[in-house]
Amino acid sequence: MNYQGGSIISVRFFIFATNYFMQKVLFVCLGNICRSPLAEGIMLHLKEKHDLKMEIDSAGTAAYHIGEAPDRRTILNAKKNGVDLSALRARQFSASDFDKFDRIYVMDQSNLNNVLRLAKTKAHEEKTKLLLDLVEPGQQMEVPDPYYGGEEGFERVFQLVLSACERLKEELKK
Ligand code: 4NP
Repeated sequence: MNYQGGSIISVRFFIFATNYFMQKVLFVCLGNICRSPLAEGIMLHLKEKHDLKMEIDSAGTAAYHIGEAPDRRTILNAKKNGVDLSALRARQFSASDFDKFDRIYVMDQSNLNNVLRLAKTKAHEEKTKLLLDLVEPGQQMEVPDPYYGGEEGFERVFQLVLSACERLKEELKK
């Protein structure tokens, strides 16, 4: 009985410690069908490859594409670069995400404003940043929206998001 009690406490402590040290990262764009699912997929890929202890998700500030798979062009471009996005489905950002995630990385200034409008505390604001701040801190660089453009826009977005995710991987490995 004692032993069992002890082991339940150890298991609970293990779960608490794992959750405490596990960084939870959310990527946000407008539709959650191009840029942020790409960031989620690239980060999942790096997590597997480097055995990172983290949770990863993505969301859009708009409701247009809830439940949809990523944009076909984003899926094709990511696949060409070795990243599979086909299982991901879009969801909308919600204020409760501030409490669920340690870091919230947003693709552009307009969506950063949309997210920050829902922040209720200074801590919520402080955990929310532009994704490309990881690469060029303080430069307000944006991941451009590729939705209305051509194929080359999707490759450019891939390379920008990859550079930020590589930097995040280095930070989390420290
Ligand atoms: P995302 O791209 O924000 O990177 O997912 C967009 C996807 C859909 C639309 C705009 C941007 N849209 O207007 O439907």
